[in-house]
Amino acid sequence: MTGSSSGIGEEIAKLLAAEGATIVVHGRDEGRASAVAEAIRATGGGAEVALGDLTTDDGADAVAAAALAGGPIDILVNNAGFIGYLSWTEATAVDWAQTYNTNVISSVRMIQRLVAQMRERHWGRVIQIGGGLSQQPIAIMPHYNASLAARHNLAVSLARELKGTGVTSNVVAPGAILANEAIRAQLTHMGQSHGWGETLEEIEHNYTLAMAPNDVGRLGRPEEIAAAVAYLASPLADYVSGATIRVDGGTVRTVI
Ligand SMILES: NC(=O)c1ccc[n+]([C@@H]2O[C@H](COP(=O)([O-])OP(=O)(O)OC[C@H]3O[C@@H](n4cnc5c(N)ncnc54)[C@H](OP(=O)(O)O)[C@@H]3O)[C@@H](O)[C@H]2O)c1
Repeated sequence: MTGSSSGIGEEIAKLLAAEGATIVVHGRDEGRASAVAEAIRATGGGAEVALGDLTTDDGADAVAAAALAGGPIDILVNNAGFIGYLSWTEATAVDWAQTYNTNVISSVRMIQRLVAQMRERHWGRVIQIGGGLSQQPIAIMPHYNASLAARHNLAVSLARELKGTGVTSNVVAPGAILANEAIRAQLTHMGQSHGWGETLEEIEHNYTLAMAPNDVGRLGRPEEIAAAVAYLASPLADYVSGATIRVDGGTVRTVI
């Protein structure tokens, strides 16, 4: 479960643990990853920790070795990544390359290290966390939008590659998710500067109308992404491969 030391990944790890999976909690920061593993164990779940920067082959080797030390891996959720709030004029070629490495090649590194052993056991799940900006990119963060599109694309290619093996490859595509403290703080800051209200609830409502309009009328929660991952990870989804599940409140358009 890459990038499970905070945000969306943390909630996916907790829900899969509640469903009975033993989780390999991953991040680069030992304190954050250990805290999530400890929280899972405190509720009776099983959790180990694997630390490493997935932007390098050495880091990915260390994460895969730590993960496999506990036994074979049945489910790989590629969630690790970052959002760079840069415009077309700000994002340099280096920013584009670093974002592609972090958000796309990191996933590929884990696929290369973990999927062969799933194939040998004729069962497995590979789930990419993609995003709505892959299909409806906005003007800002072009390097990030493109990295999400690549995640969607590679997941379908992998599904074709895994034809007949018992291993599936799918995408969960979040809309705008109130995932962590940094996003809450940024929302509060934007809300104050745009006059969107005083409380987080008011600001979320007005932000949603202005920036992320959807049929439900609010931002998503990490638990809601976790629910879709839990479905795809389960035997209930044996007949689902190469698919995308959107969890975005019914977002049909963007306004910026
Ligand atoms: N939030 C949204 O609205 C949204 C919408 C669509 C898609 N997404 C995607 O969902 C994923 C999670 O987003 P989030 O908002 O939950 O972010 P987050 O809270 O910042 O979590 C990111 C996770 O990725 C890990 N990570 C980042 N860079 C890494 C690297 N180089 N090597 C290894 N681990 C790394 C972080 O670990 P450390 O503890 O080491 O930092 C952390 O566990 C991202 O891939 C993002 O693109 C988010």
